[in-house]
Amino acid sequence: MDNPFRYSGVVTGDLFVDREDEIAALHRAFRAGEHVFLYSPRRYGKTSLLHEAFRRLPAGEPWAFVDLSRALSLQSFVELFISAVLHGAESSADRARRWARKFLSRLQPRLVLDNSGRVQVELGFGPRLAEPTTLAEALDLPQRVAEDLGVRLAVALDEFPMVAELGGDGLVRAMRAAFQMHRLVSYVFAGSQTTMMEQLFAAERSPFFRMGRPLRLEKIPRDAFVPFLVGGFRRGGMDLPPDLAGELCRLVDDHPYFVQTLAHELWDQARARRPSVAAGDLTQALASVVGWHDAYYRRLWERLTLYQRRCLLALAELGTGASLFAADTVARFELKSASHVQRALEALQREGLVHRRNGEYGLADPLFPHWARAAGLVSGRAERG
Ligand SMILES: Nc1ncnc2c1ncn2[C@@H]1O[C@H](COP(=O)(O)OP(=O)(O)OP(=O)(O)O)[C@@H](O)[C@H]1O
Ligand SMILES: [Mg+2]
Repeated sequence: MDNPFRYSGVVTGDLFVDREDEIAALHRAFRAGEHVFLYSPRRYGKTSLLHEAFRRLPAGEPWAFVDLSRALSLQSFVELFISAVLHGAESSADRARRWARKFLSRLQPRLVLDNSGRVQVELGFGPRLAEPTTLAEALDLPQRVAEDLGVRLAVALDEFPMVAELGGDGLVRAMRAAFQMHRLVSYVFAGSQTTMMEQLFAAERSPFFRMGRPLRLEKIPRDAFVPFLVGGFRRGGMDLPPDLAGELCRLVDDHPYFVQTLAHELWDQARARRPSVAAGDLTQALASVVGWHDAYYRRLWERLTLYQRRCLLALAELGTGASLFAADTVARFELKSASHVQRALEALQREGLVHRRNGEYGLADPLFPHWARAAGLVSGRAERG
């Protein structure tokens, strides 16, 4: 059998763990026509959650998924957006053509069928997207289609912070102007937890101020991951004791992507020695995973400043919630002063290496302390409980 633990790409169905409450919250929002801001640190499972929530919608509740990271320009974004809506509404090619004639008369897109029979949209040269009415025509398509079908439509815009790069403030404002009039469409704006995602709905000057409800994705609880891990090993003819599965989660701080990565490696390694998995196997699997990422950490380390490195090591050594500003910590880790700590933490936060939760700083990357220890940069005390 194939390794049941996936650490890259979208996971759905049997490969998907937990998130029942989040799926229920999304479905409620879709049915109420509410908008949602979905955010989390990197690789917590936003994209997978959206796909799974859509997959579980009954037939007759259509949805469209737009991945903004696939767009390289405003024009390609508009093409993707239109294609996703036409495809999501499960339209036949004929109906898509009728909608295009009726609702996209300025844009006059060319519809082509790809290998899997999906409608793809091409706008050709110079569709004058800088003109507000032309852009609005594309952005209004979800509402027009939903009206035509007499249904509600859910539209997810994944990697939403890309909008600013693709179309600047103009695109953000055009979206707000269009979407706020769409009574039959519920939008999910998803992205990694960055200042932009937070400000989008929380800053008064943002066009999206309080336009929807925030949904912050947390880690997956250990008691949901453990049975999934044990079950995956059992299907491969191996016995992973629940305690050891819990230890696996703890080692990587319950971070969904790293739990899957470590489980994948452990599964591969232990398979040769079936049937029972022991603590030594886990230690070995962790060492391999750290090894895969060694080049990444080395490059990272080289580009950090001295104070940024010391802050990371202090967090690795002391764990989340340690006060790096305390005089004895500043002295012990040679951090110079509280303002040096502040500047270093801000830079590390921008890099996505450190996050702040309820006023406490912690490492965003749970593998880092293991790498730092393997590289001899911190002592064994970096182990956290
Ligand atoms: N519900 C889940 N069940 C099992 N594994 C999950 C789940 N959510 C996330 N993962 C693991 O985390 C990985 C990353 O998931 P996904 O790409 O959905 O996260 P993301 O938050 O969209 O990431 P990014 O920040 O890169 O956009 C998956 O490949 C999988 O290994
Ligand atoms: Mg994603």
